[in-house]
Amino acid sequence: CGIVGYVGEQSAQDVVVEGLRRMEYRGYDSAGIALVHDGEILWDKKAGKLANLEKELVEHPLASSTTGIGHTRWATHGAPTDRNAHPHLGRHERVAVIHNGIIENFAGLREDLEADGTEMRSDTDTEVAAHLLERELETGVDLTEAMQRVCRQLEGAFTLVAVDAQDPSRVVAARRNSPLVVGLGDGENFVGSDVSAFIEHTREALELAQDQVVTITRSGVEVTGFDGSPAEGKRYHVDWDLSAAEKDGHDWFMRKEIFEQPHAVADALLGRHTAGGRLQLDEMRLSEQELREVDKIIVIACGTAYYAGLVAKYAIEHWTRIPCEVELAHEFRYRDPILTQDTLVVAISQSGETADTLMAIRHARTQGSRVLAICNTNGSTIPRESDAVIYTHAGPEIGVASTKGFITQLVASYLLGLYLAQVRGTKFGDEIAAVVDELEQMPVHIQGILDRKDEIYALAAELKDARSVLFLGRHAGFPVALEGALKLKELAYIHAEGFAAGELKHGPIALIEEGLPVFCVVPPQGRDQLHDKMISAIQEIRARGARTIMLAEEDDPAVAPYADSVIYLPRVPVLLQPLVAVVPLQLFACQLASNMGHDVDQPRNLAKSVTVE
Ligand code: G6P
Repeated sequence: CGIVGYVGEQSAQDVVVEGLRRMEYRGYDSAGIALVHDGEILWDKKAGKLANLEKELVEHPLASSTTGIGHTRWATHGAPTDRNAHPHLGRHERVAVIHNGIIENFAGLREDLEADGTEMRSDTDTEVAAHLLERELETGVDLTEAMQRVCRQLEGAFTLVAVDAQDPSRVVAARRNSPLVVGLGDGENFVGSDVSAFIEHTREALELAQDQVVTITRSGVEVTGFDGSPAEGKRYHVDWDLSAAEKDGHDWFMRKEIFEQPHAVADALLGRHTAGGRLQLDEMRLSEQELREVDKIIVIACGTAYYAGLVAKYAIEHWTRIPCEVELAHEFRYRDPILTQDTLVVAISQSGETADTLMAIRHARTQGSRVLAICNTNGSTIPRESDAVIYTHAGPEIGVASTKGFITQLVASYLLGLYLAQVRGTKFGDEIAAVVDELEQMPVHIQGILDRKDEIYALAAELKDARSVLFLGRHAGFPVALEGALKLKELAYIHAEGFAAGELKHGPIALIEEGLPVFCVVPPQGRDQLHDKMISAIQEIRARGARTIMLAEEDDPAVAPYADSVIYLPRVPVLLQPLVAVVPLQLFACQLASNMGHDVDQPRNLAKSVTVE
């Protein structure tokens, strides 16, 4: 969910709605706002996208106010209806509250409230917080203290933001295991799920720790623990600005982000090596000695980040000879994994807020393992709770389907692998420098593919009626196949699956029928027979009627005879091929979905950052 709160001199409705628009990628099942005006809470909420709420606000304007909160929802408890949309109000409509996360003990709290005569107006867990806050306020304390008291009664993960009808001077927010940042303005202050909530107004932000309550007024920000003890947030400067959060003439954020990839890759590499190709990772807070002691690496992540992890495994094991496992974060924690203090857990997360990944790293740390985060979001929870971090520096990613986030996760994974190889001496300096040199050429290679976008768009037009699409890859091309399929599922809502090409004959080949489109990520020529084995697999499916679309090296003579279409890729080492091979698949999914009339940036049922387990 996306959350925003504002106190200042501007129209709170304008600031809040604008903040919600920038955060809509976090959830778009419903949206709502609450303003404090003349001793009253004015509110409005609507199921569906933010546009529905905006329309409602035009038709039935609320009186003006300079204190307000807003929410865009990704439903957990209760269907995405008007009634379940946030804000939720206390029974006397004195308090309005918005919430992200899950209040785990809400059923018991709800029973107590009902026994006390409170009538519930929604099916959400959030509503209990509104009633509890109101009950505390009625004892005569202010909203800050009421929030502290209520948070002490809540279990689970939550960000709460509330306003009190009788106190227009403040907005109070709290967090436990769910994102919340503060924006520091001049005569105005903000809270938000992330900095995009207020980037238009300020680039100065305050990071909060877990279990803290923050009170913002026009002139100040006060942070405390749930017990009321004073605390301080960590101030930081946001190094991107409003233009990075705008579409810049593209129809979709996703398309813009695909086209930003050459730049993103260059930024991810910037300052990370010397002219001689020696790696230097500044935020690597683990000593060389600690890294030499590592005897096993476990990469954990979800979704697209997990596929980046699968690529990382190929590179890390090859360069460092350290055994490396990759696991979905939500599976990892519950299978009692073997973790020691010599295990390095690498958590990959674009947002840095994915609850499954966060819980997995906490588990690893309680077992004494060290955790390194590969993350795109400064000030987010996962890097904050890790021993070390490699930021991916992709800039804000707004499209729900990850693109530049993924590609920079790959770059960071390569950097980590090479750094470990350097520290542990498993590769010679000149070998590492040669890979760094290849990486430095990637922005140009990726640009070359983007320049040929029309070929891919033509293919998307040709395959517009496809109801099922398969993707094949081998070695580092296998995760690319998985990612290509995921993109198509997420955006075009059509059946798509990625397979390891070698596995085809063990089952999936039964799916092949006349005209079925199959994308084949062909490994570079002449390495360990990988290439030739892939060509054989392609022959097998072609013989059974598949429509083959090959992603192959530009001078590869073997593909043409078996290809219905070929998308040529630049010549790069096999381990780095995902950086170029994934780009046409992103473009294809984006274009196909766009042609189908789908909302590419906000696909149905998904959210960019899933902050519940
Ligand atoms: C959600 C998004 C995916 C993303 C995954 C992991 O499910 O819809 O696109 O890959 O979370 O997100 P993270 O922020 O941890 O990389």
